[in-house]
Amino acid sequence: PRPILLTRHGESLDNVRGRIGGDSVISDSGELYAKKLANFVEKRLKNERAASIWTSTLQRTILTASPIVGFPKIQWRALDEINAGVCDGMTYEEIKKNMPEEYESRKKDKLRYRYPRGESYLDVIQRLEPVIIELERQRAPVVVISHQAVLRALYAYFADRPLKEVPHIEMPLHTIIEIQMGVTGVQEKRYKLM
Ligand code: G3H
Repeated sequence: PRPILLTRHGESLDNVRGRIGGDSVISDSGELYAKKLANFVEKRLKNERAASIWTSTLQRTILTASPIVGFPKIQWRALDEINAGVCDGMTYEEIKKNMPEEYESRKKDKLRYRYPRGESYLDVIQRLEPVIIELERQRAPVVVISHQAVLRALYAYFADRPLKEVPHIEMPLHTIIEIQMGVTGVQEKRYKLM
């Protein structure tokens, strides 16, 4: 059985400021996580010569992957964070204050709500299809370093969680979710590295 390791990027400067979207670098704490993750991956996948590391095209996932050596890295645009459109770079407080109708419609139906000029969770789920097909085709382990909304969708797919739960799944920073697909079904382990 081959594991799939899912993790968010290390804490970013936008995470610290409470801003969504953007393309910021990682914080000192995010860099520490990147080192711990590299350590973990190198031990966990020691004899897995065909394993690979998949990131999004955003700096915070690429930087989180950068201390990992010895495995090929692949960047997927489909792993980029949900596009918050006109709300990109804002805090939730700012959205609530400046665009109260948007804030309320998202609260009412977070799964279907589409940011103006951006995406909904349903859009994200749809664009992940090629990634899921490729993940299922892989015979070797894959480490997926991506973002909160995207990982909620990927996790829900493998853990067989209902669509309506996707936007609300807890996806903490600095934690690895290991998914093993065996004949008896899916097994899951979590490693909280900090
Ligand atoms: O920047 C986007 C967030 O990671 C997604 O979180 O869908 O709970 O607002 P949210």
